Amino acid sequence: MITEKKSTVTYVKWDRGANREFSEEVTVLRMDNGSITYAMGITEEGYLLHCYYGPAIGSDDISYLMRLADYPYTPNGNNRDRLLFLGDRPFEFPCHGIGDYREPCLMVLDEDGMSACDLRFVSYRKMKGKPELKQKGVSCIPATYAKPDEAETLVVTLEDSHCDIAVELTYTMFTKLNVVTRSARVVNRGYHDIRIQRLLSGCVEWDHSNFDMITLNGAWARERAVERCRLHSGKQSVESTRGISSHQHNPFAALVSRDASEEVGEAYGFNLVYSGNFLAETEVSTNGFTRFVMGINPYDFSWLLRPEEDLTAPELVMVYSGAGIGGMSRTFHDLYRAHLIRGQWKEKMRPVLINNWEGTYFNFDEEKIYNIAKAASEQGIEMLVLDDGWFGKRNYDDCSLGDWVVNEEKLKGGLKPLVDRINALGMKFGLWFEPEMVSPDSDLYRAHPEWAIQIIGRDMTQAREQYVLDYSNPEVREFIYSEIRAILDSANVEYIKWDMNRALSEVGSTSLPRKRQRELWHRYVLGVYELMNRLTTDYPHLLLENCSSGGARFDAGMLYFSPQIWTSDDTDAIERLKIQYGTSICYPASTMGAHVSDCPNHAIGRTTPFATRGDVALMGTFGYELDVTRISEEDRKAIPGQIAKFKKFNPIIRTGDMYRLGNLFEDESFDAWMFVAKDRSEAFFTFVQVLNHPSMPARRILLRGLDPDRSYRNEDTGEIRLGVTWMRGGVIVGAFGDFVSKTMHFTAV
Ligand code: GLA
Repeated sequence: MITEKKSTVTYVKWDRGANREFSEEVTVLRMDNGSITYAMGITEEGYLLHCYYGPAIGSDDISYLMRLADYPYTPNGNNRDRLLFLGDRPFEFPCHGIGDYREPCLMVLDEDGMSACDLRFVSYRKMKGKPELKQKGVSCIPATYAKPDEAETLVVTLEDSHCDIAVELTYTMFTKLNVVTRSARVVNRGYHDIRIQRLLSGCVEWDHSNFDMITLNGAWARERAVERCRLHSGKQSVESTRGISSHQHNPFAALVSRDASEEVGEAYGFNLVYSGNFLAETEVSTNGFTRFVMGINPYDFSWLLRPEEDLTAPELVMVYSGAGIGGMSRTFHDLYRAHLIRGQWKEKMRPVLINNWEGTYFNFDEEKIYNIAKAASEQGIEMLVLDDGWFGKRNYDDCSLGDWVVNEEKLKGGLKPLVDRINALGMKFGLWFEPEMVSPDSDLYRAHPEWAIQIIGRDMTQAREQYVLDYSNPEVREFIYSEIRAILDSANVEYIKWDMNRALSEVGSTSLPRKRQRELWHRYVLGVYELMNRLTTDYPHLLLENCSSGGARFDAGMLYFSPQIWTSDDTDAIERLKIQYGTSICYPASTMGAHVSDCPNHAIGRTTPFATRGDVALMGTFGYELDVTRISEEDRKAIPGQIAKFKKFNPIIRTGDMYRLGNLFEDESFDAWMFVAKDRSEAFFTFVQVLNHPSMPARRILLRGLDPDRSYRNEDTGEIRLGVTWMRGGVIVGAFGDFVSKTMHFTAV
């Protein structure tokens, strides 16, 4: 429900040697769904201030939360100390240059080189449901979606009359989820060009700083490690400056109460639906207040806005949880599964695939691939994914990106004969592409060197011997798409792994005008979105899995196009415990690409039991990444059992509630987690012993999420106990030896 309430605030201030009484009318605009409230206030002067965000608050007058009467507030008609006022106020969408010295959401530069902005309220409108994010000339901006009865939207328009810009702030509150999404759109309403130097998606303010900040950080093969730090005075941030959301920091941050654990405490989660440079920053000011802002990274950003043009900031998803970090994660999971992921695979179990990358690398031909497929199909695997190396002259990672034509020396007769044979085994076929790249040694680069991102005259930095294509250029997108289409139309390809293996550098475009060069970072991302949207629209049956050197682009922007993302190039079961734990803080298990690979593990050299590798991969989409013809007979024979387990438990894992019961970041000795069906009729529990210690009794692990009043049978032991007993008394679980896993199935009786 969106409501408006006017009230009058009266207060006494010492002004020019005497006590004076001031009063002004304020309007509170609030959004309520019965569980959470989000409110903002409009002052008489038109400032839009943040009023409240958190658990549902009473319907009475909450304008006092803006603390208009507090020192040093200087109201309408008293301009004497306005600077003190602006540096202290909780702005909904802070600007710069007029006296608020904290992090702004918007910075503009006018034609005279002046940079200041003073946004004042103009109007608001409300609507049922959730409109799509729009920007002129942009075909697709990923965002969450909702039907008219699933959400309500408030659009608030502000204006700066000096530079003639309007800013539309869009807020959507979901009716059944503790979620508010936000975006901002700037429109040039004047007759002169302006430059947007910074446009963030949103800001939230609190009048305290009793928070810890949780972020997900890492590196290649070590993505999304959870870090938790106390807020302190000044700024704390994570960001990407690489053009992709990155291995280093995920576009996610949470501010949690200091007592917050998995199950208790408050958590405010923030995630940007964006796949490029981002910034998430908290700023604690000297008075102990906290401002949090998030959006496209202002780093090297500048956008020319000609009259009538607009620029839309990506969506910021905000989740509130009063039930700890676990509660926050489950809300993100519910939101993304139902309101972000699209397409025919959204609610379906994904085929069990075998990917040849770690099995063969570049060393394969059609017979080898067919033999892997055949042996895999005999074990019940449902899809063969042919990874890197099938095109151009690619026998190593040093050439041919951009030449998406089949290498007939490896695959005689092209793709179709191989795919037909694989289909005849009853298996689907999937294919790897890296559509955003070009190798210097490629026909494409030789024909169109100007299509690579570059600064003319400057050396181009290579990474993995490749350059990045200029996706801001429609000609480039059109060409790559025509190549992909030719392949897709040539054989029955039912899955694509869309990879992206390097960050951007020397960011310049031969097709953009001089004045728009700094737009390339963002135009690149919009170009990628356009192509992915085209692909998934033209080939609705296609299952798209995103990938970026493992998990360097595991973000909500990508999930709008692909229901699953390759989580990490580290397939070691033990490393995966941390990676999947960290990923699950924001993203659902249904989206995590997870495979059983061979040992010693190629990323880390560790050997783990085949069963454990299977149990850990069950937490994600599940598949294999090995040469099934070359593993031991014992392991091969275990595959049908693993697949049966996947088929049995994937419905709960994919659609149920996830509870993290262990935390390797805090206790290296074990990990455990469980998934509970939405109707709480069954649960699937997994335990992994990581570092065994002598003379230690078996562990007692408390289950979560069961119905306390129902009885549940442990199908593995036959024990029957009440949900409350399993949750307060726990299960006793021990495993002898490191890296051993155990799973348990609980059903309500
Ligand atoms: C990236 C991916 C891998 C694999 C290789 C192929 O590193 O993350 O899974 O596809 O590229 O070159």
